Amino acid sequence: MTDNGFIDSINHKYFEGKLSKSQITRLQDFDPKNTEAKNFMEGAMARIQRMGVSAKDIGELIFWEMASIWPKILPGAWSGIVPPITFPNRHVLLDDYMKKNQWKPLTEGSKVVDLGCGFPPLTALDLARKFSRVQITGADPSFGKYTVTDSKGNYACILEDGHINYLQPVAGSQESWNFIFENLDDTKKRFAIKFNELKKNLPQTEDANTYEEFQMDGWTITRNPLRRYELKNLGFIQKGMGDEEIPSHLDMIRCMNVLVYFDPVFRRDGLEWACRHLKEGGIFFCGLNWSESINSRFSVYRRENNAMQLKEFSFSIENLRPLEGVPYFSFRNDDFEQEQLLQHAVMIRQNKVFMDEFNTGFDKILHEHSVCERDSAGYLGFVNTGLPPVQLLANMSKTFKQLSDNYADGVVAVLRERGKKAWVNEIGFIGIEI
Ligand SMILES: C[S@@+](CC[C@H](N)C(=O)[O-])C[C@H]1O[C@@H](n2cnc3c(N)ncnc32)[C@H](O)[C@@H]1O
Repeated sequence: MTDNGFIDSINHKYFEGKLSKSQITRLQDFDPKNTEAKNFMEGAMARIQRMGVSAKDIGELIFWEMASIWPKILPGAWSGIVPPITFPNRHVLLDDYMKKNQWKPLTEGSKVVDLGCGFPPLTALDLARKFSRVQITGADPSFGKYTVTDSKGNYACILEDGHINYLQPVAGSQESWNFIFENLDDTKKRFAIKFNELKKNLPQTEDANTYEEFQMDGWTITRNPLRRYELKNLGFIQKGMGDEEIPSHLDMIRCMNVLVYFDPVFRRDGLEWACRHLKEGGIFFCGLNWSESINSRFSVYRRENNAMQLKEFSFSIENLRPLEGVPYFSFRNDDFEQEQLLQHAVMIRQNKVFMDEFNTGFDKILHEHSVCERDSAGYLGFVNTGLPPVQLLANMSKTFKQLSDNYADGVVAVLRERGKKAWVNEIGFIGIEI
């Protein structure tokens, strides 16, 4: 539990002391001695303030994520590496965008790299299963040679030399997060001991092309775990942005939830690298989102005359009054997608006539789907914890789809009034020419 001084200062500095008791309670688990998390949280609070979202309109989920989840997914909690965190169905709408976009839609035989696909390579798998006639390569510099998994499903990703690259708790389990991260060094030691015990039981002669597995006392060791995910149209390469060994003449490179961890120089070099690996007319897109493509923001570049041209910046409509924290999740103020999102959201939110209508309609839709409804004092509430996570996400997705159906045209009209070239894109997001 945090000392109240820090939360008090946040409350007064960013919200005129107007946070509700429940919102403050959601922040209680935050440890202000964690400097990385503290700076990160302050950055996010400043962004909420810049968006001009009132205390009543900030979903409690945002504060809970900031205090209880973010400190565990920042690189500091993962020994400094970019965390490989990913979810199934994360790019459900973006996959659709890849199929339908106006810049370079996927067709039979298209060649795609899912860059920084994470492990397990769930987003690459989703893509490959959806588009069986598209050739996909999942690329990531952090794949491991081995995994060791405990009886609950928490696992360690281990490199060839036995070094534990990272530990991954069971998705969505708070208990597992605590179990893994409470004392990371001890957890690593436990997994290292098991690794040495179990490894002896794998076949002595090794075949790099074969997935191998051995189980004992509820623990499982695997060798070449990626082999298990290969499909006719899906292969993998342990390389990252900047590596020339990644295939060339590509139609598309998708790089989601990666560049947020890097600075603008890395991004600039990365775009030059992408240009060398795409065919003329091929597209590169990058940005950030949450499960089920909620709170997406992304940029799309196309290779034209041997240079990368920014064709579209796009964001999903729920970013205008977010219920969860991704719209504020950034390590820096000069992150391209973060800055574009803030600038445009602020521009739209300044249109009071539109926003009054949007806010009223949004509240009605929330009520219809029992998502984060307001409490008696008018503050947006927490998610319905009685529902399983899958159902919660499904309700949120339906909510945001309806929000887009009802208000995306209105957002575009507001942006056009302000001189922007904007449109509702192929997946109901707002597209903007920058
Ligand atoms: C948060 S995960 C994103 C996973 C997946 N793309 C998604 O959207 O769910 C970030 C991934 O970026 C990878 N990464 C780190 N450095 C990279 C680089 N130079 N090039 C490509 N990927 C990198 C990490 O290993 C990690 O798996």
